[in-house]
Amino acid sequence: MCGIIGYTGCDKAVPILLEGLKNLEYRGYDSAGVAVQTADGIRMIKATGKVENLAAKAESTLGLYGVCGIGHTRWATHGSPSDVNAHPHMSADGRFAIVHNGIIENYLELKKDLEKKGVEFKSETDTEVIVQLLAYYYDGDVRKSLMRTVARLTGSYAVAVICADCPGVVYAARMSSPLIVGVGAGENYFASDITALIRHTKDVIDLDDGETAEISMDGVRIFNRYGRPVEKKLRHILWDIAAAEKGGYPHFMLKEIMEQPQAIKATIEPRIKNGRVELDDLDIDMSAFDRVLITACGSAYHAGCVGRLVIETLCRIPVEAEVASEFRYRNAVMSEKTLVIAISQSGETADTIAAMREAKKNGATVLAIVNVVGSTIAKLADHVIYTWAGPEIAVATTKGYVTQLVVLDLFAVWAAERLGRLGGEEYDGLIRSIKALPSKAQRALDLSGGAKELAKIYHDRSSMFFIGRNLDYAVAMEGSLKLKEISYLHSEAYAAGELKHGTIALIEPGRLVAALCCCDRLYEKTASNIQQVKARGAKVLALAPESNRAIYGEADYVIQVPDVHPLLFPAVEIIPMQLFAYCVALENGCDIDKPKNLAKSVTVE
Ligand code: AGP
Repeated sequence: MCGIIGYTGCDKAVPILLEGLKNLEYRGYDSAGVAVQTADGIRMIKATGKVENLAAKAESTLGLYGVCGIGHTRWATHGSPSDVNAHPHMSADGRFAIVHNGIIENYLELKKDLEKKGVEFKSETDTEVIVQLLAYYYDGDVRKSLMRTVARLTGSYAVAVICADCPGVVYAARMSSPLIVGVGAGENYFASDITALIRHTKDVIDLDDGETAEISMDGVRIFNRYGRPVEKKLRHILWDIAAAEKGGYPHFMLKEIMEQPQAIKATIEPRIKNGRVELDDLDIDMSAFDRVLITACGSAYHAGCVGRLVIETLCRIPVEAEVASEFRYRNAVMSEKTLVIAISQSGETADTIAAMREAKKNGATVLAIVNVVGSTIAKLADHVIYTWAGPEIAVATTKGYVTQLVVLDLFAVWAAERLGRLGGEEYDGLIRSIKALPSKAQRALDLSGGAKELAKIYHDRSSMFFIGRNLDYAVAMEGSLKLKEISYLHSEAYAAGELKHGTIALIEPGRLVAALCCCDRLYEKTASNIQQVKARGAKVLALAPESNRAIYGEADYVIQVPDVHPLLFPAVEIIPMQLFAYCVALENGCDIDKPKNLAKSVTVE
């Protein structure tokens, strides 16, 4: 959740750290801080709120001239957002400063232990125990003290540490929280992810759990959990700076919505060869499985709900979808005949990782659908299919979700063919339709103009509903989440047929109901649900295929969606809802890319 960065080189560290933190801010943004080594020991500044507050403080602070330092942007877990709880944290003797991403589960026990030894704590954070332990174990060898310290920690951590005795060196350790080394010329870095470093280097080393590392201006040294040096491969990042910038758009979210046709294309193109789906790196015998369980969180779970229906329809194999935070504790029935599909944009979501571990423990095969190469989920899975969405910066996912849908479609077609359940014209037709998705997504963007007008009318209402059946319902859940998370307007997604079993009591005159009507075979059913809410005074916005003219006689407003294969509607149907959520948030003056209380990658439970 939090973002961390470390720098050592020959340039002034603070501007580099601040720039990196600005690019990591989507990971957490309730406070920030930096610490640098100076001739007068370690100097530190912190500020609550956004990184810009910290930058302003840095401007007016004298003496922050070091060339080696660490920085942090926080998403609070232990202790409220405040200067004292903000990172970096310093040891009582002022020798060490640390930044941390993760949660130390046994921190209370460690804290009590240290307090008994006379150590005084300043903050309410779990992190402070790490830095106090470092100082406690220190006997002149930082790496040794770091290894002794991490051996006592239970939980997750990515930490970067500087020590007043070791100028020009930053130390780090990792367990279940992302951390990479950025390798430059005469300068080296640590960071939570590449967006913080892409302006400086495209060469990175992924640290693995249990590893510790140290960087200086001319070298990188990595050690395994036993303290032995390890050689690691450099990974060259293929995307460029432009992908991590707004490119003229006012918000990353809008840029990412607009990029969807291209992201879909990048995901599909390498996987369709000579009219066939080829998932080169996937070596799975589908006939070995008697069921599929899909697990994920938030929007990735919503993609899984779509995937459940598509895979089940095409493969005729039982498929369930469940949020990972429940799945991990459910003691689900699994065996070596179970295929578990874990979906994640970031590849670092703690609940999804735990669900995967649970699946593996029970003998299931785990296939991950992930966007971030080298992420924990990608490494943990038995098989991976990447969504080539490129970097997604806005906290609310858009192109990440849509490319997950597309990968699930490709997988369903691939699996159904292997199982002998799809072939001939039906197969060819689906392939043609999948190949047309990038242009259909562009058409959906072109048809979505009405979303802006509707947002002007409805942005200040207290609540709205999204209803639909089958795939439309699965997409309604995502439409509703998008609206809630960025505009703070309350909304509910309901299976259209379920409304009358209770929720219809909340329909009152003027309430906006978005009715998703792309599922053609159930259109008449949804149309009667539209009539039920209209009879109670609701205003209905219908999302319907261009070919559906009847809808104009039912709804108050219509946003058209391009016609596509019935199983592929979700990838285009979500687009007007993303734009509607964006426009409502804009009208409400919300911080669209960084909605309150949220963080992009949820690495804690
Ligand atoms: C989506 O807009 C949310 N920010 C959130 O629900 C997200 O999809 C969820 O936290 C899962 O993240 P992941 O895809 O990185 O695992």
